[in-house]
Amino acid sequence: MGQIRNLSILLGILALSTILVVHAESPYRYYDWEVTYGTISPLGVPQRGILINGQFPGPTIECDTNDNVIVTINNKLDEPFLMTWNGVWQRKMSWQDGVLGTNCPIPPNSNWTYKMQSKDQIGTYMYFPSTSLHRVAGGFGGFNIHRRPVIALPYPEPDGEVTELQERLDSGYNMPMPDGLLINGNPNKTVFTGESQKTYLVRVSNVGIMNSINIRIQDHVMKLVEIEGSHVLQETYKSLDVHPGQSLAFLVTLNRSPNDYNIVASTRFYRTPVIATSILRYNGSNANPSASLPVGPTYHVHWSMKQARTFRWNLTANAARPNPQGSYRYGGIEITKTIILENSVGEINGKLRYAVNNVSYINPITPLKLADYYNISGVFNLNTTRKQPTPGPMVYGTAVFGMEVHDYIEIIFQNDESTTQSWHLDGHNFFVVAFGADRWNPSMRRKYNLVDAVWRSTVQVYRNSWTAVLVSLDNKGMWNLRSAIWHRQYLGQQVYLRAWNDEPSLRTENDIPPNAIKCGKAAKF
Ligand SMILES: *[C@@H]1O[C@H](CO)[C@@H](O)[C@H](O)[C@H]1NC(C)=O
Ligand SMILES: *[C@@H]1O[C@H](CO)[C@@H](O)[C@H](O)[C@H]1NC(C)=O
Ligand SMILES: *[C@@H]1O[C@H](CO)[C@@H](O)[C@H](O)[C@H]1NC(C)=O
Ligand SMILES: *[C@@H]1O[C@H](CO)[C@@H](O)[C@H](O)[C@H]1NC(C)=O
Ligand SMILES: *[C@@H]1O[C@H](CO)[C@@H](O)[C@H](O)[C@H]1NC(C)=O
Ligand SMILES: *[C@@H]1O[C@H](CO)[C@@H](O)[C@H](O)[C@H]1NC(C)=O
Ligand SMILES: *[C@@H]1O[C@H](CO)[C@@H](O)[C@H](O)[C@H]1NC(C)=O
Repeated sequence: MGQIRNLSILLGILALSTILVVHAESPYRYYDWEVTYGTISPLGVPQRGILINGQFPGPTIECDTNDNVIVTINNKLDEPFLMTWNGVWQRKMSWQDGVLGTNCPIPPNSNWTYKMQSKDQIGTYMYFPSTSLHRVAGGFGGFNIHRRPVIALPYPEPDGEVTELQERLDSGYNMPMPDGLLINGNPNKTVFTGESQKTYLVRVSNVGIMNSINIRIQDHVMKLVEIEGSHVLQETYKSLDVHPGQSLAFLVTLNRSPNDYNIVASTRFYRTPVIATSILRYNGSNANPSASLPVGPTYHVHWSMKQARTFRWNLTANAARPNPQGSYRYGGIEITKTIILENSVGEINGKLRYAVNNVSYINPITPLKLADYYNISGVFNLNTTRKQPTPGPMVYGTAVFGMEVHDYIEIIFQNDESTTQSWHLDGHNFFVVAFGADRWNPSMRRKYNLVDAVWRSTVQVYRNSWTAVLVSLDNKGMWNLRSAIWHRQYLGQQVYLRAWNDEPSLRTENDIPPNAIKCGKAAKF
């Protein structure tokens, strides 16, 4: 099935780049999605998966900056369901974020309409189910926000776009290795066809639930241009690491002999990686790809950390707005709060749990956002939040960090475990100012990149290492900060940042949507 559909997606995207030249004033784009169970056979063995309008992966949302994106989700599963929009900021719209801290889930056999605006944002993102472990079974897709044509790209207009090269690990959530790795829902079948001498934009999202992935194209280099909405210095790479929940986009020029070439994705940090391949085909090629695949980098984390440090913001390029990115001098802003978040694994009452500062998150029945709005007490308590690693037994809790709108926060992710982590913040991007080995301490601040660090929403934390980020909390709301390794967030590795001020003003936040579903202690309102 995949081959023909993926070819048609490619052609569809090629057509789209001409449509994009015509621009209307913040248009509305409507999507009607039915979420069902269906049979998928991504690894040759039929299994139950989650489909959107019968498709796996789901349809790609293509829109322009500031477009209104209206998505109706009709839940035909036998369980409550929510979709979240990973990396799409939801500026002033915490109510549309689609996680259990902001929304009541959509009950079976009913529908709910998300009303979003892709405000001041461009780039490569994705959506996926946030409820339960639904994401493991599918229900995900790409979400691409294109620039308004008045704003120039920092690179020549590509001749076309290859739609997301989505990689997904299909695995039991507590298995040490994935069963298989997929590219656009297929392990080894997808073919991307392009014209010789043309340059294509390739968007990559790691929608996998647990593994970092390396991607490479035989005999071709990849020129990195965008990471989660930031234009970066355009370095060329032979291969790129993409960690769970991350997105990026690169250019590839078809400047070799007109043959077929292997595109290879492989899991990172294992001596024996799991591999998926697809084919980059020069139109008219009859030559099969080489039988030997390009080899990936060493499994040691050092290589990956070194590469990550080469990802830099292009200060003179613009992104969604016409002024250069670098005119925002993030390095000179005073830090108002520091939080140190340490991940750990353990047990509570004999059950496997994951925790942050030894608090393992549980979702209250009443979404935090509704508790705030209706002044319902007893749902969460800002005073019990642990802002740094706390010795002692692991406990259940609903960790909400009390922050003020416009706080400028330093977050240290400390990882003393032996596996690489990945963390994602909703509603904001953060500046990734440093990666370091062992334990962070305040003297590490001297090593921060305060000039051209990349600004993104998902960051990896290498094993026995730390990562430091700076975030300007300028988007009022209740924002999920979670492990992008899905069984970890499901079993407790998440917190919320409450960006709050007391003025109920539509200037800082939209009002509760009239269609909001009410549940828990908010059901009576
Ligand atoms: C969505 O639910 C409403 C009732 O809340 C119903 O009137 C409408 O027909 C439903 N739409 C779809 C597409 O099922
Ligand atoms: C896909 O190809 C790779 C490399 O040849 C191989 O290791 C892997 O097992 C294949 N996957 C499937 C599901 O056949
Ligand atoms: C391949 O080339 C043929 C003949 O020139 C053309 O009709 C077709 O559209 C091309 N396909 C792609 C994917 O570029
Ligand atoms: C940075 O962006 C500018 C556009 O302002 C572009 O001309 C330049 O090539 C970019 N530099 C790098 C190294 O990517
Ligand atoms: C919640 O409390 C605040 C402050 O006391 C008040 O301004 C607001 O109107 C209350 N909200 C509701 C929905 O009652
Ligand atoms: C939190 O602590 C502060 C002072 O330490 C106190 O004034 C406030 O009432 C406490 N709030 C809650 C919800 O316990
Ligand atoms: C969690 O508690 C254990 C003891 O149960 C302790 O060894 C560990 O250091 C704690 N972890 C953190 C992150 O504080």
